[in-house]
Amino acid sequence: MSGAPGVTSLATAVAACWPSTPLTVPVLVEADASGGDIAAWRSLDSDESHKGLVSLAVASRTPAPVRVSGAGEAWAQAGLVGAPVTEAVLRYAVEVPGGLRVVPAPADPLEAGRAVAMLAHNPALLGSGRVTVLDVGRAVPGSAGAALLRHADVVIVLADPGQVGHAARLRACAPVLASLRDDGIRLGLAITGSCPHSDGEVSQIAANLPVWARIPHDSVGAALVRGEHRPPTRLRDRWAAWRSQRRDPDSLEWMPLIKAAKSLAELCDDFSGIGVAVRERGAVEVGVA
Ligand SMILES: Nc1ncnc2c1ncn2[C@@H]1O[C@H](COP(=O)(O)OP(=O)(O)OP(=O)(O)O)[C@@H](O)[C@H]1O
Ligand SMILES: [Mg+2]
Repeated sequence: MSGAPGVTSLATAVAACWPSTPLTVPVLVEADASGGDIAAWRSLDSDESHKGLVSLAVASRTPAPVRVSGAGEAWAQAGLVGAPVTEAVLRYAVEVPGGLRVVPAPADPLEAGRAVAMLAHNPALLGSGRVTVLDVGRAVPGSAGAALLRHADVVIVLADPGQVGHAARLRACAPVLASLRDDGIRLGLAITGSCPHSDGEVSQIAANLPVWARIPHDSVGAALVRGEHRPPTRLRDRWAAWRSQRRDPDSLEWMPLIKAAKSLAELCDDFSGIGVAVRERGAVEVGVA
């Protein structure tokens, strides 16, 4: 949804908070046709030319058989057919401090747009990962980003229905959202901003999609997601941090954004295991529109 700040932040936090197992290596693919932010946030080296969205998109056009080796072999033996291709996606990812693997988009919208269009035509490389979280930015109906949503298992739509214009666009997108749902994709809403409407009211204008989360304003959590260390200054935040870290020194969940993202990641993880129509590729993608 246009003007809904926080898509990349939420997608990053969801990927980082995904419940991990030895077989699960979540990867965040920044498939935003308007250009990426993560490389700038994390000062990623643009010289790593074989990494990133453009390289992933080019590779997706000529899908070579992926060699099953190492961990991939173990996964295959465990009957997890999608695992080797996960490795292929990971090949284009960089690991950022904290351990998250990210396929960053170029900042240039022309380059990013071309790469997203290529991926939308050849989504196979994205499709077989164990956990691939996709940031499609503003998924305008008819765009390549929106086309990518058709290949997802779970879609989170981030919107700010407290703004009149936003609510109108959400209502206008209802048929598209309903058709994605009719295709067997799980969709839910994440509400941002200070929305005065109840979950039921918001749901009504958005094809009756459930409200999965309300994303709080959290400048400390948002800074962490950008890779900046910003200690809490507000008394309320300092108190929450102190109480939480007394129980678990490593816990980051005192930050409201991180807590909300973790709940969403757990919900999506549950959906990937139950209830979702079984897909050949067994992948989970979360497009945050
Ligand atoms: N929950 C939040 N609380 C406070 N600040 C936030 C929150 N989410 C994101 N931000 C901040 O808002 C700005 C925009 O966030 P982000 O880049 O995630 O939005 P976006 O919707 O992806 O924007 P773009 O259209 O540029 O892709 C960033 O500086 C980010 O740190
Ligand atoms: Mg973004």
